[in-house]
Amino acid sequence: MNSFFITGTDTDVGKTYITAGLAVSFRKMGINVGVMKPFAAGTAQKKGFKSEDVEILSRAAQVTDPEELINPQFFPIHASPYTAWKNLKIKPKISTILSSFKKLSKLHDTLLVEGVGGIMTPILKNYYVTHLIKDMKIPTLIVTRTRVGTINHTMMTIKICEKYKIPIKGIIINNFDEGYDVSILKRDLENLTGVKVLGSIPFIDNMSDDSLNRVFQKNLDLKQLLK
Ligand SMILES: Nc1ncnc2c1ncn2[C@@H]1O[C@H](COP(=O)(O)OP(=O)(O)O)[C@@H](O)[C@H]1O
Ligand SMILES: [Mg+2]
Repeated sequence: MNSFFITGTDTDVGKTYITAGLAVSFRKMGINVGVMKPFAAGTAQKKGFKSEDVEILSRAAQVTDPEELINPQFFPIHASPYTAWKNLKIKPKISTILSSFKKLSKLHDTLLVEGVGGIMTPILKNYYVTHLIKDMKIPTLIVTRTRVGTINHTMMTIKICEKYKIPIKGIIINNFDEGYDVSILKRDLENLTGVKVLGSIPFIDNMSDDSLNRVFQKNLDLKQLLK
């Protein structure tokens, strides 16, 4: 089992896009890849999956697993699971999430789990994304962006992973907006944190299988990731 928890330095940093690209690339490499989005939030879609993220991930991995396994909990509010609980009175169910995770892990050789928000996003009062990663016992991949301020966010994310003893597989720079030059950002992040930057993904304007596969195979060290 070679599974990853894809977290980000913030929401909207590109976790879904990067996870989708990884799912397509792994599938094209002949790997039986599954996807999971334990908690999703936002406006429910009228057709198909409630969450657009889940729709993108399932399409990328081409899985037919039921929605309740891929996304056991959906909150119709744009907020953390903790805030959703307080506002909507729907309590996050960790045991359901972990049993769905176990079932999906048995169905696939590699499972890509997309986080929610960032590393400290609260789920319960004393249970954050960090605790979920620890309970799943899988390493994390950190998606970061190039916008100035990213070094602060990335270092905070890494420090928290270290505090909770979460193994980090590497950083992926999502180079989709203005900011640092990628080679300078890679140099500085690696020097400052000792965590490897596995590559950077440029702006994607075509989400087809072939395009995603080409971009990810070219720009990411997938072999290092799967080692
Ligand atoms: N590499 C990229 N190329 C083009 N657009 C991107 C890229 N990464 C992210 N985006 C844009 O940013 C939005 C947020 O990305 P998303 O993957 O949904 O972030 P997260 O899952 O971290 O909240 C996407 O809907 C898309 O419009
Ligand atoms: Mg997302």
